[in-house]
Amino acid sequence: MGTMIHPHEPPPGTQLARLDELAKSGCVEREFGPAHERFRLVVLSVAGHIHAFENRCPHFSIPLNYEPGRFWVYDGSTLMCAHHSAMFHLDSGLCFDGPCQGARLRRLEIEIGRGAVWRAADLSCA
Ligand code: FES
Repeated sequence: MGTMIHPHEPPPGTQLARLDELAKSGCVEREFGPAHERFRLVVLSVAGHIHAFENRCPHFSIPLNYEPGRFWVYDGSTLMCAHHSAMFHLDSGLCFDGPCQGARLRRLEIEIGRGAVWRAADLSCA
């Protein structure tokens, strides 16, 4: 069983995004829990791959985007925080340039099926 880090993050088996939503916009944001301790996540479809992250930049612990539904992706492999331009590898979440270099976005394990993206158990925390 995976370890939950945030009290309001969705458990394994939760639907995070529908594939038709992702195909239209390239990203789906979701929020869970009350405003004062909300868990935010983003699912991104980039260059044929789907990635899910907690939407929280390790620099200031705020969302990576400042406009709803708008995320900065470059070269099919890099996600940039909109606030101070930290650059993260999409495949690992590692920040390789910017004010939190060496820190990581929290990647969420996912499964794809039945027309949607689902949260999977995080085996690294088992
Ligand atoms: S809050 Fe993301 S780079 Fe500063």
